[in-house]
Formats: sequence, C-alpha cells, structure tokens
Amino acid sequence: MEAGIPEQDRIRKINFPIFTKKRMQIYKNIPLTNYNTFRLGYHADCLVRIRTVEEAVSFFKRGNICKKPILIIGSGSNILFTEEFRGTIIFPDMRGIRNEKSNKKEAIISAGAGVKWDSLVEWTVLKGLGGLENLSLIPGRTGAAAVQNIGAYGAEIKDTIIKVKAVSVQDGSVRIFDRDECNFAYRSSVFKTTLKGKFLVTRIWFRLSKDPEFKVGYGSVKEELDKLGQLSLVNIRQAVINIRRNKLPDPDITGNAGSFFKNPVVSAEKAVALRNIYPEMPCYEQTSTDVKLAAGWLIDQCGWKGKRIGDAGVHDKQALVLINYGKATGEEIFALSEMIRKSVSDKFGIELEREVEVIGRSFSC
Ligand code: EPU
Repeated sequence: MEAGIPEQDRIRKINFPIFTKKRMQIYKNIPLTNYNTFRLGYHADCLVRIRTVEEAVSFFKRGNICKKPILIIGSGSNILFTEEFRGTIIFPDMRGIRNEKSNKKEAIISAGAGVKWDSLVEWTVLKGLGGLENLSLIPGRTGAAAVQNIGAYGAEIKDTIIKVKAVSVQDGSVRIFDRDECNFAYRSSVFKTTLKGKFLVTRIWFRLSKDPEFKVGYGSVKEELDKLGQLSLVNIRQAVINIRRNKLPDPDITGNAGSFFKNPVVSAEKAVALRNIYPEMPCYEQTSTDVKLAAGWLIDQCGWKGKRIGDAGVHDKQALVLINYGKATGEEIFALSEMIRKSVSDKFGIELEREVEVIGRSFSC
C-alpha cells in the first residue's frame, strides 16, 4: 500500500467512476493492466466506457467533458504504452451480433465494436456462415479488428466487410462508411490513416457465405486439417486454433501483442538480390514489382528468436512476437524492438515498420 494513503481512498483513487449517466461511466486514474495485452500497468487519467451509439453521440457532442488527448482502444491487443497516459481512453463496448438479412446463398450480419472478435467468429462458424473462420482466435474486439484489417492464413477481415458505422469524435455526428470508403490495405484502413483518432467505430456489417469457398492453402492449415478429418467450417476453425495455440503465446498468460512488426514489402530487384544470398528466404509476390518478405524470418536470421533482455523477450516459436515475461516496462519492450530493427537493417538493409502502435512520448492527438 502507498504510504500514508488509507486503503479506502487508495481504491477510490485507482478506479473511481466520476460520472454515470444511464450506463456510461467515466473512470479517473485507472490502471491499464486489463486494457493492454502486454499487461503493462501504466495509468490513464480518464477512461470512458461507451456502450451504445447514443452514448457515443452524447459524449462527443459535449466535447470537453474529459481531458485531451483522446485515445480509442479495443482490447489493447495492438498497443504498447511506454508511459502513463495523460488523457482520456475511450473503450468501445457496444455489444450484440445481429442477423440483418439472409437468402439461400448468403447472410448479412452485423456486430457491435465491443464484441470479442473470436466470439463473433465462433458464432458465424456455428451458424454455418463462411468467411471469418481463418481469422479464429485472434485476440481483440470487432471494432479494432476492422480498424486494422486483421488477417491470417490467407484471409483478411476486409474480404467480408460491407460497411462500418462510426461516430465523429469532433462533433458526435454518425456516419456510415461503405467498404471502399474504408480504404482497407494490409493491416490498415482509413481509421488508422487519414481519419486516425477522428471516428469511433461502433458497428460493422459483414457479408458471409452459406456455401463458402474454403481457404486452406496457407502454411500448415491443410496439414492440420487432414488430422481433423472432413473439410468443414468447424474443422478449419479448429485447425487454425491448433496452429495458433502451438505457435503464438496466449496473451491471457504471457503479455504480448501478436506480430510486433509488419511484413515488409520490397522491390522485386531487392528480393532477387537477397534470394541470391539466402535462397531459403520466404518471399510472397504481391505485384510484378513488389514482394512481401517474412519479418519473422528476418528477425530469426539475426539470432533474436527466444532471446530475453530482463523481462522483455522474443517468442521462441515466432520471432515476430515480443513478450513481456512479467515485469518489463513499455520502454524496455520498445528498446528491444529498436535493437531488433537495427540488426535487421544492418544485415538485410530493410527497415521494419511496427505493426503495434506505440503510445508514449511521441503520441499526439
Ligand atoms: N518464420 C521463421 N522464423 C520465425 C517466424 C517465421 O523462419 O521466427 C518464417 C516461417 O517459417 C514462414 C514465414 O516466416 O516461412 C512466415 O511465417 P508465418 O507463416 O508464421 O506468418 P507471418 O508472416 O510471420 C503473418 C501475420 C500473423 C498471422 C500469420 C498467419 C503479419 C505481420 N503477421 O505472420 O498475424 O497470424 O501471418 O497468417 O502479417 C498478427 O498480426 O498479430 C499476427 C499474428
């Protein structure tokens, strides 16, 4: 216990709702341990849990209720805090999965931004709706999944999204973005680029197939599927879950944020030159001029896999994943990531870009 502070005051200081209207709650000086999957214990001056579009509208219309800057997070599964957050965190908690429309071939469903992503995938698979199964067991919530266009095993969330509802942080107006307006790209969307921090995504609409084309060509999915038996949505989901459980650390047990870096895209000439030196280097042709490389392989080749500096480390089964073994600070994980970037740059002449968003000294709104 902090010296001189009575127990009851200490609790109020840590987690004290200062404003409650219907179900909207604003907390002051809240520890962020449960709001980032690195499980870093920094604090935010304010945290607002928003559960409906109406709450979002009324909150943003009132503009200056809370301290700026404003940062929207889902489960914090793609964030690295490197210091206390001296502003307001918006935690979108809109729930509910709805059947919107359906015919013989497909169904349109929608999900609130606060729905746990994997609960949504499970729901669709159990209903026999195809499109999201390859994205099983990805941590985080549905809103954040759309914002960063999550992808795995040959699928991306953008392949199924029809539209996104969002509320303007500036004036509380509600806007529908159709798929094209979302500008989806590899781990990116308009909400991560030109409109970053300007809209709170509240609900997402998906078009799913009742007669899906299964995507099993990526990595070891087919191999894992063969062990499970027949080709079905349930088995694809299970195969992906098995692969992920085997390769990636569970954030509920070991603090991590999945892939820390993006896979870099280089010119075809650069890829050929590297392939001449490293014939076994994985390459994924994107266009006739661009080739995507595997950041995990590059980091692995620099000898980082399984390395640990204090409590910050590199996962021993996938070098793209950085880990908090318990007491690492955000600064220490960041410092490790910079060392990794430097070795990849020195050895391969490639500048890795972080997939994880760093919230610290350089953060501005
Ligand atoms: N590899 C190594 N050593 C490593 C890691 C990878 O040699 O330590 C090699 C693998 O053997 C393989 C290649 O690198 O030949 C690619 O590895 P993997 O198939 O594991 O996929 P990845 O490109 O490292 C991407 C996503 C993952 C997603 C997987 C599966 C990015 C940044 N990461 O990883 O997404 O699960 O594909 O589709 O695109 C995430 O974003 O958090 C994430 C986990």
